[in-house]
Amino acid sequence: MSKLIMAQENKRIMGGPDKIFGVSNLAKKRIAEIGKDNVVNSTIGALLDDEGNLIVLSSVVDVLKDLAPKDYAEYAPIAGTPEYIDTVKKAVFGNYNPKGYVEACATPGGTGAIRNAIQNYTKRGDTVLTSDWHWSPYGTIAAEIERRLETYTLFDKEQKFNDSSFDEKLNQILKAQDETVVIINTPAHNPTGYTFTLEDWDKVNRSLKNAAKNKDKKITLLVDIAYLDFSGDADQYRAFFSKLEDFPDNILVLIAFSASKGYTLYGMRCGAILCMTPNKDIADEFKMVATFSSRASWSNGTRASMVVLSRIFADKALLSKVTEERNEYLSMLIKRGNIFMHAAKECNLTTCPFDSGFFITIPCKNADQIGEELQKSNIFVIPIGDGIRISIASISEEACSYIPAKIAAAVSKY
Ligand SMILES: Cc1ncc(COP(=O)(O)O)c(C=O)c1O
Repeated sequence: MSKLIMAQENKRIMGGPDKIFGVSNLAKKRIAEIGKDNVVNSTIGALLDDEGNLIVLSSVVDVLKDLAPKDYAEYAPIAGTPEYIDTVKKAVFGNYNPKGYVEACATPGGTGAIRNAIQNYTKRGDTVLTSDWHWSPYGTIAAEIERRLETYTLFDKEQKFNDSSFDEKLNQILKAQDETVVIINTPAHNPTGYTFTLEDWDKVNRSLKNAAKNKDKKITLLVDIAYLDFSGDADQYRAFFSKLEDFPDNILVLIAFSASKGYTLYGMRCGAILCMTPNKDIADEFKMVATFSSRASWSNGTRASMVVLSRIFADKALLSKVTEERNEYLSMLIKRGNIFMHAAKECNLTTCPFDSGFFITIPCKNADQIGEELQKSNIFVIPIGDGIRISIASISEEACSYIPAKIAAAVSKY
């Protein structure tokens, strides 16, 4: 980008082309020309039905429509309403009972949680660690507050979690600085659909605990669970919480909760940051710093969404209704994933190890050219570095069955 005129750079690199919006606009343009039935728009990070309409949980909409003016007009407390803070713990942990102290603070979506985690648990100029495949706003958020993102290689040659790369990068960072935030997005990782297994967690924990033997070091593990409720069985996919207990005091676990996907409240900016710690002082400090950062950035969260979520969790029948409705869509999504992966196998198309969720990634060189080649067949995908991201959340079952062969053909051409 050319030099800023009035604005200050503040060590950020801004204004580069936004690939997601760029390709997404091309898809929209093509749809306008030839109709949506003739275009596969797999660029959208939201759940759509097979006809291409945004899925909105009707049970959630009913609660929203029933709100009284004060439910949305009044300010919410900065940390969130007390009901919401209780609710969020239930929404995150489900039937799992965390052992230590759990505190929570409302944030505008999971994005706000990630922002406040980095802001409070690293210093300006620090490096934050995540995997090479990652949701690109992590880098944007880090840059905005003058931090830097470093990545480890998520998969090894056997397409398993690359614990040695994780360990190496973690130690490298902690050689240069005394504190860091490690972001792990699981289950149903964006963009690969990978879910950390319990064995992967054992490896992560071994590295963290080893690094934390030096008591001058402070490690914050931020688990981004944006897709938790669209990953699979609610209890099974929460089993990893048991791996986040029993850390020494210089490892703090934070959870970034988002209601965007699980409750189809994308635009309501509903989320929270939570801490899990055996140390009450650390929990109290978390509450204080998280509230301070909220006050200093967006102040209070959206009261309407807090009330909606709190009402759902206060009413067993309503909660069952929401869960059942969501589970129907979850089954639809799982079916799309199975169909895509089956078709990929049939045509020898290699994907990153996919478990569940909204996205599947095809590792490849020349992703931009492959993306453009697919556009000739009216298939729109997002090139992401050394791969292309397919949103199975936004395309039909039918498309999931035939696009792998088209992708394989495009990949073989470059
Ligand atoms: C991996 C990941 N984390 C966090 C978020 C945050 O979403 P929101 O701020 O809408 O809750 C998203 C949204 O796309 C995501 O993909």
